[in-house]
Amino acid sequence: MCGIIGYIGKNNALPKLIEGLKKLEYRGYDSAGIAYFHKNNIKIIKSVGRIQELEKKICFKEQSQLGIGHTRWATHGKVTEKNSHPHQVGKITIVHNGILENYQDLKKILQEKGYSFKSDTDTEVACAYIDYEYQKNPLHNMSEILKNCMNTFIGSYAIAIIVEEIPNQLFVMKKDSPLVIGLGTNEIYVASDISAFADKVSNYIILEDMEIGILTTNEYQIIKNGKRKMPTLKKIDTKNQSSDKKQFPHYMLKEIYEQSEKIQLWNTKYLNHIMELPDISKYKKIHIIGCGTAYHAGMIGKYLLEEYGNIEVNVFIASEYRYQKLFIDQNTLVIVVSQSGETADTLSCIKRVQQYKAHTLGIINTEDSSIARSVEKVIYTKAGQEVAVASTKAYTSQLYIFSMLAIRLGIINHNLTLAEIKNTYHQLPQKIKEVIHKNYDNLTSLLWNYNNIFYLGRNIDYVTMMEGSLKLKEISYIHSEAMPAGELKHGTISLMNEETCAIVMATKEELIPKTISNIKELKARGTKIVLLTLDNLTNSIEKECYDEVIWIPKMAPYVQPILNVIPLQIIAYNIAKKRGCDIDKPRNLAKSVTVE
Ligand code: G6P
Repeated sequence: MCGIIGYIGKNNALPKLIEGLKKLEYRGYDSAGIAYFHKNNIKIIKSVGRIQELEKKICFKEQSQLGIGHTRWATHGKVTEKNSHPHQVGKITIVHNGILENYQDLKKILQEKGYSFKSDTDTEVACAYIDYEYQKNPLHNMSEILKNCMNTFIGSYAIAIIVEEIPNQLFVMKKDSPLVIGLGTNEIYVASDISAFADKVSNYIILEDMEIGILTTNEYQIIKNGKRKMPTLKKIDTKNQSSDKKQFPHYMLKEIYEQSEKIQLWNTKYLNHIMELPDISKYKKIHIIGCGTAYHAGMIGKYLLEEYGNIEVNVFIASEYRYQKLFIDQNTLVIVVSQSGETADTLSCIKRVQQYKAHTLGIINTEDSSIARSVEKVIYTKAGQEVAVASTKAYTSQLYIFSMLAIRLGIINHNLTLAEIKNTYHQLPQKIKEVIHKNYDNLTSLLWNYNNIFYLGRNIDYVTMMEGSLKLKEISYIHSEAMPAGELKHGTISLMNEETCAIVMATKEELIPKTISNIKELKARGTKIVLLTLDNLTNSIEKECYDEVIWIPKMAPYVQPILNVIPLQIIAYNIAKKRGCDIDKPRNLAKSVTVE
């Protein structure tokens, strides 16, 4: 979601801004723009669509030492050039990520003072308000001006600012939206995340809420409450910043394949240290929160923790949890799951549960992200940078951590032996490869042209199907619905006929006969069935039950969900590819959702 880049330094800002914007593309956007100083004037160039469209309009021969850039994911106002950033009012030009909640009130005040507006955005109002404070301040003291703005603005914002009369300074301020400052040699970058400049600098600063940054080519000042503060300098970990697509046509496919080698990495990191992971059985209540794929990982976590830990676990969607009545206290553990570590809804839940003195544990991929910094304890999922919007390896990394937390308890409750557990996890990479290399051609031909696909399963398989259904929706734009197979007869079966299709997962052994009965009810109505089930059942499941089948290797229940999701990722990928979709950057979606 909206990406910000800013550059001040000895080199030409124009290619730096474009390169930075391209690195932020994965966040999701629908228009892009830059503003830069050229011969003491500010030039603004914007374009709807991809960054390539913006690039075509830029004359890279022009030299500039200071500029800002933006990828916009529309919130207020349609996807038009007029609404895209940068916005300019009076002497001020800005790019913004977040939502200014009181922009309507501020707009009225500013209109009374003579300001007029060209766009439908909250950002233009923020820009006008900064200009208003700027005009009021005789010395143009930017630290005071921006402090006044922050005291007036309600909502979330990371803002980068250039000022017509100050061609040698770049300004930033932030609250509840991420912003980082990269320190190079005679050049300073600002961006929504470090991937935008990770190969250009060795140190960076994470701007905290209500802080202002005043940057020149080789100096930075961080100001909080009117006072200068010495920020913590962090070192870039280049190992985690590789976003090379290698030989793969899409990042998503690369990331699906990577899952097998990642398991080996996680095995070295966690498998030999299971007992060092937190013992979560000491809490009276466990809540798990997340959004999208992270929520689904939390649901799998619930089944595993309940099974192996004998503890009740409840899972919540963060955007709901943040407003619902809570019955939690210091005996509650809230487990927060997030790939990006920046999801606004999830972040807001942490602030809320801390007011109840509940304990927090993060299962987070992005190190030093806002969520990672907000929770009491964090377990990093070590999936590496995930570029494709549709999450794959980050999801399996979250399942891996949940399985570890669960079997840590299972070692005591279920008499699991370490040798047995280790053997299972060591087999997993090879099993993943086997599943990836199965033949999905017939299945893709059967499915790709449907407008609706049902995803069915029971118990933990149902949760896996929720994730499979989300993958399909995200990248192929086919409508799909996941449903517990046993629930079909209470309504949805009325939709089933010769024109419908269902993918059914049956890997929870004691429930397979039940799911097969549900399949037969669908077959009787002409529905096409793709069955995903265990490879030890090849002789016992009648051929009449399915039109296509994928046999998944049977493994221990605590790792089976990791294996089970692989065919669903591939099915979604293959269908989206056959339909010619933009797989890595699906329309309307953002990788990092920093607004509510
Ligand atoms: C967005 C992404 C999803 C992701 C969700 C939660 O919607 O497109 O892929 O699952 O946010 O993101 P998080 O970074 O908190 O895991």
